[in-house]
Amino acid sequence: MSGSRPVTPEASEIRDLFNRIAPVYDQLNNGLSFGQHQVWKLMAIKWSNARPGNIGLDLCCGSGDLALRLARQVGSTGKVYGVDFSAALLEVARQRTQQQYPPPAINWVEADALNLPFEDNYFDCATMGYGLRNVTDIPRCLAELYRVLKPGAFGAILDFHRPPQPLMRAFQQWYLDTMVVPAAKQLGLTEEYAYIAPSLERFPTGTQQVNLAKEAGFSATHYPIAMGMMGVLVVEKA
Ligand SMILES: C[S@@+](CC[C@H](N)C(=O)[O-])C[C@H]1O[C@@H](n2cnc3c(N)ncnc32)[C@H](O)[C@@H]1O
Repeated sequence: MSGSRPVTPEASEIRDLFNRIAPVYDQLNNGLSFGQHQVWKLMAIKWSNARPGNIGLDLCCGSGDLALRLARQVGSTGKVYGVDFSAALLEVARQRTQQQYPPPAINWVEADALNLPFEDNYFDCATMGYGLRNVTDIPRCLAELYRVLKPGAFGAILDFHRPPQPLMRAFQQWYLDTMVVPAAKQLGLTEEYAYIAPSLERFPTGTQQVNLAKEAGFSATHYPIAMGMMGVLVVEKA
């Protein structure tokens, strides 16, 4: 494994934001998606084509939800690396793992998704949940993912998505404004959660994500889910 480089100032602001959110992240996530994020994460695992015995990567793993599911899928003969640059969220992930018996085979790695500390062609499969929208350089993140995946390996990237239909779009905005931000406000995190809507506005559409993935060298398909309000970008390294 090679060493990772330091994060940029803009990225450090994002990291600080996630460090502040860490204590309530899981609670808010479960409440605000009515537990549905669990279903979407299972879909991502399926699309990652993870198999028993695989070495899997969960990028931007946060508190470790998706990494734990990936670990279940690769089983005791496999191994998962959960990578994030928020030390506070990784600590939540570590504590979660310690509560499980038998302990899942997960290495929690504090690193920048834009400078991954792994060799080329190392991973059999990868997942990423709600991370791509948050990285400061999407093409670079996809290029790093391409570099570390083995030829023929799949990655599944789950995130919010702007639905093309005006009605669903309006519903999504209403949901963010009237459910997400007030819930965060109750926990004293208004500013931290107000970032979701603008980050979604900047986030490439499904078609644009496919084009970016192709530029990184992947074959790619984007699957809208949850009536287009979420999406999974499935990439395959040729
Ligand atoms: C919205 S959270 C998602 C966490 C988790 N994957 C989940 O689905 O619950 C986004 C995560 O991306 C991480 N992140 C953002 N940019 C990153 C980067 N450049 N390198 C590593 N982690 C990053 C944040 O620290 C945060 O944990």
